[in-house]
Amino acid sequence: QAKVEVDLATIPEGKNVIIKWRGKPVFIRHRTAEEIKEAESANWQSLRDPQKDEDRVKKPEWLIMLGVCTHLGCVPIGEAGDFGGWFCPCHGSHYDISGRIRKGPAPLNLEIPEYDFPEETSLVIG
Ligand code: FES
Repeated sequence: QAKVEVDLATIPEGKNVIIKWRGKPVFIRHRTAEEIKEAESANWQSLRDPQKDEDRVKKPEWLIMLGVCTHLGCVPIGEAGDFGGWFCPCHGSHYDISGRIRKGPAPLNLEIPEYDFPEETSLVIG
């Protein structure tokens, strides 16, 4: 299906949810205030794929990204790795709480799909 709707009211702060969209996993994280602060305070210019956190989210508390490692396509594990985000067990790529690559072989940050918030608590991917 082209679009998937998700009820955000069912995802508590500090939790990850994985949904399927076009055959791919999509990670949805309801970030805490502390995580947002950490994501925004990173020295993004020095990163391998330099990107500001604010350019990766539409609302700071919701991080939406494809759950596909940019190295060879494995599905990273949440709440794991050295940077408080995701860890890809296939060859050891570490992503931060903004999904940016911080360590390991992956060349790029986790990809952000097209999405929108049609209402306060609803998310549409695609
Ligand atoms: Fe993720 Fe290789 S596929 S590190």
